[in-house]
Amino acid sequence: MVELKSGIPLYFKILDILYLTQGQGHFCLNQVARSSSAAVTRLVLERELSQIKDAGTYKSERIITSKQGASIKVKGQTKGILNFCANNYLGLASHPEVIEAGKKALDTHGAGLSSVRFICDAAILYASCFDANAGLFEVLLNEEDAVLSDELNHASIIDGIRLCKAKRYRYKHLDVNDLETQLKDAVSKSCPKKLIATDGVFSMDGNVAKLPEICDLADKYEALVFIDECHATGFFGSTGRGTEEYFGLNGRIDIINSTLGKALGGAAGGYTAGPQELVDLLRQRSRPYLFSNTLPPPVVACASKAIDLIMQNTDLPKKGDKEHPICPVMLGDARLATTFADEMLGKARIRVQISASHSEHDIDRAVDAFVEIGRKLKILFDNH
Ligand SMILES: Cc1ncc(COP(=O)(O)O)c(C=O)c1O
Repeated sequence: MVELKSGIPLYFKILDILYLTQGQGHFCLNQVARSSSAAVTRLVLERELSQIKDAGTYKSERIITSKQGASIKVKGQTKGILNFCANNYLGLASHPEVIEAGKKALDTHGAGLSSVRFICDAAILYASCFDANAGLFEVLLNEEDAVLSDELNHASIIDGIRLCKAKRYRYKHLDVNDLETQLKDAVSKSCPKKLIATDGVFSMDGNVAKLPEICDLADKYEALVFIDECHATGFFGSTGRGTEEYFGLNGRIDIINSTLGKALGGAAGGYTAGPQELVDLLRQRSRPYLFSNTLPPPVVACASKAIDLIMQNTDLPKKGDKEHPICPVMLGDARLATTFADEMLGKARIRVQISASHSEHDIDRAVDAFVEIGRKLKILFDNH
């Protein structure tokens, strides 16, 4: 007899038994069990997919067939479409000098190092910021420590925190009063290290963390501050040094993680910048660093060139001005948002991120498209 796995809905168990009793003569029992459980798994997954489709939140992936930029080509569309959903904040992803730097690195260093690691000076480099976030908390914090995390932090911070054994506190989004209450609790439990973890700029809404207040609380309760700067590095703050610079807090943030995969050329890569001892320890203990391949040289060269361009031309970050380029368009209904996004294809898409490469004309066209589809879907009326 093959034992049926628990936790599988009854009708799948029946299907399983049918598989076994249909007499597939050329299979041994194990093979039958294996193919049967594969079929069951397929059905379970199919059911989950149909639930997403029924909820109207299924995301179809579009295949980009051109370079990244304000206007792109997408498979299945003959006309170019305006692109407002890239993290290409400074428009450097297709900058000729960035591309040239990548090509040169390919010639001088080859396609990859086929080995685990090479060292980047003042910080530690990972294959992505997701990895940097996954590899930090476990190394820094143990079970006696506490981590206090904004409830809307990026998934990679949440996952990184899950991997460590510290006591977890989740404070309400941007709510420094709630953060203080939780810090007091961590102090009352005598947690030796207390780490406040927040996105510098939150990816969905472009909200900026209240860093001055957070730093004051950190001083008061002897906590450390960690920020994820993926949506700030290179373009936010007067010279593009991010949220810390935006608030004039230079030096008060203890640990910064960020990505090379957005404003800095947009290829891939992430890093942790922080105290030398922490970086040294991460090199010894951080699992995504130790057990994953290094970044390929052309990727590093493109990011280095993007940094050079930003350092040489401080007007580049200023193009972003004071407002953050993420502009959420809130429709209040996930199904409606998906329909709206589908309708927008051919004009622009729904999660709006403005890049330095967009012209005012591009932005006017996107706004016109929003108005047109808004009227069509009866969300927007002429008197609005
Ligand atoms: C806030 C934040 N942190 C981390 C990441 C992950 O960055 P990467 O693409 O380098 O893994 C993202 C990517 O979307 C992000 O938005």
